[in-house]
Amino acid sequence: MAKILVCDAIDEKCINTLKELGYEVHQQTGMDEATLIEKVPPYHAMIVRSATKVTAKVIAAAENLKVVLRGGVGIDNIDSEAAKEHDVHVRNTPAASSHAVAELALTKMFALAGKYTLANASMQAGKWEKKKFKGTELAGKVLGLIGSGRIGSEVARLASALGMSVIAYDPYVTTFEFGTLVDSKEDVFKTADYISLHLPFNESTANIVSKEMIDLMKPTAFLIQCARGGVVDEAAFAAAAREGKVGGGAFDVFADEPLGDSPLRGIDNIILTPHIGASTKEAQARIGDELVEIIKEELPL
Ligand code: 3PG
Repeated sequence: MAKILVCDAIDEKCINTLKELGYEVHQQTGMDEATLIEKVPPYHAMIVRSATKVTAKVIAAAENLKVVLRGGVGIDNIDSEAAKEHDVHVRNTPAASSHAVAELALTKMFALAGKYTLANASMQAGKWEKKKFKGTELAGKVLGLIGSGRIGSEVARLASALGMSVIAYDPYVTTFEFGTLVDSKEDVFKTADYISLHLPFNESTANIVSKEMIDLMKPTAFLIQCARGGVVDEAAFAAAAREGKVGGGAFDVFADEPLGDSPLRGIDNIILTPHIGASTKEAQARIGDELVEIIKEELPL
């Protein structure tokens, strides 16, 4: 019987369906490398999200492993090279969470524009500071995207409906349905009122939002980071926000997760959330359905 090790929080229905189909499914979350190395040998599939690190050592120990499934998009927590060497497939669910992440990016834009998180904190503290919370509107502003794939396109579609104009930098595409492509990331950083990141993390994108890029931003502009941790120089951005060189920013993903002591904490014009872009009921249900289909394909009964 094919054995599946579920290492992160996955939709209940997915786990139950796999069991009903006849797979042997065990779930244990929060495993470090040593625990994974000890547990993984009998399993034919691992299901992970972003928390579990599937390192080369884990893959080497996984003598029966056929496939690592990433319930979600980013696979930078999986050593794909090591997987390839051991003939282990790596599969993800690239489309299932696009709308959830796009809604979070928009939510962050609204919150920054209207200072809503600050207004809420002030009200919860028993104050009534109406004059302090004069916001701005998204309508009429320029949204600049770095990356115009599934999520970037969804953000652009929603933002267009709000009356924003959209520009995008994406070296991998030649057409973009929801806005105007520009030739360089500098064009985006110089021009946009909101800059939203929608690109993967890899060698060429590490710290792509460098101090140099941040220095190009308008003093009123906001940065939205719902892409992958590691694509922004977080210390440089925190310094710029603290010094009022940029309007502010909103981060859902971080170079080191869970986020510990960070220069991004404790700054009024920065909104932080704990990597919840794909954490909607609907997205997790879609991811779960897709995982079942992938398991059926990779490990036919
Ligand atoms: C993804 O890559 O799918 C998102 O970053 C969500 O990650 P998560 O599944 O760990 O919430």
